[in-house]
Amino acid sequence: MHPPLFLSVFWLLPLALTQEEVLPLDCVPRKFVPYHRDNAHMFHEEGVFNYSTMLLREDLDLLVLGTREAVYALDLNNISKKLASVKWEVTQQQKAECKNKGKDPELECKNYIRILHKMEDNRMYVCGTNAFDPECDYMSYADGNLALENKGEDGKGKCPFDPFQRYASIMVDNNLYSATSMNFLGSEPVLMRSSPVSIRTEFKSSWLNEPSFVSMAQMPESEKSAEGEDDKVYLFFSETAVECDCYNKLVVSRVARVCKGDLGGQRTLQKKWTSFLKARMDCPVLESQLPYIIQDTYRWCDPQQHWKNCLFYAIFTPQSDTSDLSAVCAYQVSEISRVFAEGKYKTPVPVETSFVKWVMYSGDVPVPRPGACINNEARKAGINQTLDLPDRTLQFIKDKPLMDQAIQPIGKKPLLVRRGATFTRIIVNQVQAADGRKYNVMFIGTEQGTMLKAVNYEGEMFIIEEIKLFQPPEPIKILKFSNVTGQLYAGSDYGAAQIPLASCERSLSCLDCVLARDPYCGWDKVVGRCIQLSNSQRELIQSVKGGDASLCPNADPVKPVNQSIWPGGNLKLSCPLPSNLAKTSWEQDNRPLNPSARLQLLQDGLLILNASGSDVGQYRCLSVERSKTDEYTTTVAEYQVRIASAGSGDGQILFPQAQTDGPTVAGLQAIVGLLVVSLLFLLAWNFYKGHLPLPCGKKNSKQSQESHEEGGLNSTVPYQEAQRPALAEDKPLVSGRDDGSSNNNHTRGEAPFSAAGEESDAPIVNLSSLQYIDDESEI
Ligand SMILES: *[C@@H]1O[C@H](CO)[C@@H](O)[C@H](O)[C@H]1NC(C)=O
Ligand SMILES: *[C@@H]1O[C@H](CO)[C@@H](O)[C@H](O)[C@H]1NC(C)=O
Ligand SMILES: *[C@@H]1O[C@H](CO)[C@@H](O)[C@H](O)[C@H]1NC(C)=O
Ligand SMILES: *[C@@H]1O[C@H](CO)[C@@H](O)[C@H](O)[C@H]1NC(C)=O
Repeated sequence: MHPPLFLSVFWLLPLALTQEEVLPLDCVPRKFVPYHRDNAHMFHEEGVFNYSTMLLREDLDLLVLGTREAVYALDLNNISKKLASVKWEVTQQQKAECKNKGKDPELECKNYIRILHKMEDNRMYVCGTNAFDPECDYMSYADGNLALENKGEDGKGKCPFDPFQRYASIMVDNNLYSATSMNFLGSEPVLMRSSPVSIRTEFKSSWLNEPSFVSMAQMPESEKSAEGEDDKVYLFFSETAVECDCYNKLVVSRVARVCKGDLGGQRTLQKKWTSFLKARMDCPVLESQLPYIIQDTYRWCDPQQHWKNCLFYAIFTPQSDTSDLSAVCAYQVSEISRVFAEGKYKTPVPVETSFVKWVMYSGDVPVPRPGACINNEARKAGINQTLDLPDRTLQFIKDKPLMDQAIQPIGKKPLLVRRGATFTRIIVNQVQAADGRKYNVMFIGTEQGTMLKAVNYEGEMFIIEEIKLFQPPEPIKILKFSNVTGQLYAGSDYGAAQIPLASCERSLSCLDCVLARDPYCGWDKVVGRCIQLSNSQRELIQSVKGGDASLCPNADPVKPVNQSIWPGGNLKLSCPLPSNLAKTSWEQDNRPLNPSARLQLLQDGLLILNASGSDVGQYRCLSVERSKTDEYTTTVAEYQVRIASAGSGDGQILFPQAQTDGPTVAGLQAIVGLLVVSLLFLLAWNFYKGHLPLPCGKKNSKQSQESHEEGGLNSTVPYQEAQRPALAEDKPLVSGRDDGSSNNNHTRGEAPFSAAGEESDAPIVNLSSLQYIDDESEI
């Protein structure tokens, strides 16, 4: 399979250059998997929108899905199966009141389910925005039915009023922790625990300043703690920085935490958190001046290890429109914990009239330490609960809840940076690869309805694939993972999708399977298929860190496809790019082909214009993909091109076969010639009048993905233009056999390095077949 040395050098050069340019900044998914209804189990109910709240009930084998005005109980193994549903609609009166307050009756004055949590008694706690008048209720699932109890609990401070406002919540020990706005205007943000005695944050800009809440997580920090520590609840959000002495508003990312046992203070901070501390979170992307803004987090813990080894994965997007990068940073919980437990505080100092500067506090810190949970040391001093805390400690934390030090990510830089697709949600799953090592795989939802699957291999960012889950593109609003089913669940405004962690069978060749560097997948030599590691007892070929495919058996040779071309006509030889990291090149009669005005290289093939006798020969399309260890060349397609003639007997020509052995041959030829001329004239006339569709340049989804860095569109434009005048005379070349060319899996068995899941045209495509309308939704 390896080409002669001079060829590899010839192709390696441009490849090396582009990789140098792209890799350090961001990375491109190796594959783009277009939308296909078989990619995922889908759930969608006619007329129902906003599938954005999920609760996994693995104990009941259910996915509970909250939407606008309804809750669904779906089969956790196949969410297309609806088991039960319950409506929770606003009344006409509620809607009218909401409308009177100036809200949009069809959009805002509805009940958006925002909170779904499991209670200790197996019921569920559910809250909705309820036409800007949030309400909560209890819900149970029994005998295949979902039922609400109509308790009508006040949802203020638990659930947002405004369905467009971000919020966060978590249920810990049957207590709801919620971060949202507690008034109609959305101007009173709180972090609140709804327990018999509710505890919340102060209304002070130094506590929460126009926040946008992102997520919450609990950490069992009391576990085996020698200091008698308390468990904590972490809150991630972004807010306008108070500490910034700048003219413009600056938004920063934050992590805050409170102690589970916090009961508030006795006089100072009554029914308020005494343990609310917050710190800035940094995710340094390039030399970016403005801090990136946190959008979602995922707590990843190894069940076998101490909580100190848990990680928070967080996604970030830029705060100005000047950049289109998104990033993932990971943080050690122990590092966050250390900053809160030992770090210095920031304090406001008045500089001029009405201007305050925040600086590091270097004075005496009261004992017990402000913001600390009650631990053994405090208990020894007779402080058994936060109600016993001295005023000095409480006053300090009331004024200075912000830590001086910012939290830095592991490695002080992002694990992943991607240009173009705005990240919205993240899930992380650990998998043991064939090399025995464990890798954390990131699954990232985007604004464009796609999901990225990415790994950071010892500092090297690698995006295995980008799968389109929702068509038309709809932002992914929620992402969940069940370790019982091993499936991912995503929700958008138009529906929910369930997908497995890996679909190895999309790789059709060993090379593709191994170069994908997917730790879930390996090539089984015995059955000749790419399969999931966990489903196989046999040894599989896999090389995730290096992408070393040298163990792959040689692929079957490609069957050459015969193609005919009319003198002066045009022909497109198709060669779909097997991977976004590969480069294709062409050989004519075993020599590198030099592109010219007549021989144009396209993103997905080669276009021969105004053909002549010199174009006859053998054409081979090669793909070179470089991995860390080597570069791999495969033949994607091979064509035998010859000049067609009326008498050639070529099956692709639509002419009636001319009899060559009869007295009337000359006469027949004359008639055929006449027919051809009139046919051509008719066709040309029809095109001119617009009765027949002009072929559209195939706007490959992959092409648009890449166009920003490859200038991919440049090659399409002249191509489209070039086709039009060529069409009429080309019409006779229509062959009846490429009717399946828009079919996805047509290349199966023909190209050893098939672009699995791509819009892979069969290699047997001539120009006229481009007239088929590409129904992207079918692919
Ligand atoms: C709910 O879905 C509709 C339909 O797509 C969308 O227009 C609306 O913005 C969504 N509402 C929220 C709160 O996301
Ligand atoms: C999933 O459920 C849907 C709806 O009941 C059904 O049509 C489909 O065949 C199921 N798929 C599988 C793989 O069980
Ligand atoms: C704290 O608890 C200890 C033991 O439970 C008790 O002896 C002590 O009096 C308590 N202190 C206060 C201030 O309540
Ligand atoms: C799934 O995760 C939970 C806790 O997150 C754990 O208790 C359970 O053992 C895990 N189950 C499996 C099958 O890994």
